[in-house]
Amino acid sequence: MRDYPLLRMNIYQPRILRFDSIASTNLEAVKRAVEGASEGLCIVASEQTAGRGRLQRQWISPKGAGLYFSILLRPRIDQSAWPLITLMASLAVHDALLEACSLRTDIKWPNDILANNRKLCGILAETTETAATGEKSDIPKRAVILGIGINLTSAALLPDLLDSATSVESATGKEPDLEVVLQALIRALERHYMTLQSSRGLEEIIRAWSERSSYAQGKRISVSNGDVILEGTTRGLESDGALRLETATGEIRLVRAGDVTAVRASSV
Ligand code: BTN
Repeated sequence: MRDYPLLRMNIYQPRILRFDSIASTNLEAVKRAVEGASEGLCIVASEQTAGRGRLQRQWISPKGAGLYFSILLRPRIDQSAWPLITLMASLAVHDALLEACSLRTDIKWPNDILANNRKLCGILAETTETAATGEKSDIPKRAVILGIGINLTSAALLPDLLDSATSVESATGKEPDLEVVLQALIRALERHYMTLQSSRGLEEIIRAWSERSSYAQGKRISVSNGDVILEGTTRGLESDGALRLETATGEIRLVRAGDVTAVRASSV
């Protein structure tokens, strides 16, 4: 078996750097990746003052209200398969919340975690490279930083997001223990990352994602990407993680980016 440093990480002594307050755990992990940190490094903060979301949005991160977590990975899979890394991360969050909080969530393509159709967790993947040192090494220079923000308590929710966002506390009626969620998350990430990098790992991640997401098949959705809005019914994932969408004319379009919204069937 190939050597995976992430898997050598002892879960009871994980390489976790903790911050009371930080601008963004992703920014810190990017900085450390550029300096050459090895994969498996985790950054956790109680609060972020400049949390980053997808599409240049902010991720509001009040103290103690959420899990603000980033992990550094140096994947050995072909770069064409890198979109599957965020699908893998969404599987890990799904499984961690089930294990740690008995909460069964849904996954909205590509990687938003929902409870009661409201967003509970967002995932932001950023890529970087170790700065050149001139030294030869077979450790990949390219790195992916997976940033995961889970709303643990209702204090994480801005009043104007109450219709579209939720927290573990609101969904379960119980305030979760951050450490229990964190440890379950790291274990689940290790498991699914090992699968992703195994032979037939890509198919396995697609299969596991499709099993856990109501968005995989037969869901009426609209996808907005800049000025373009596409509507249709989902028809599974391509091998690179793209979402197959059947439009009203029966044409299959492949969606690789954009904001997905479920469309309610109109009552007649
Ligand atoms: C999204 O917009 O859905 C992605 C949100 C990702 C937020 C997390 S919180 C921890 C990590 N650090 C950041 O600055 N962002 C990610």
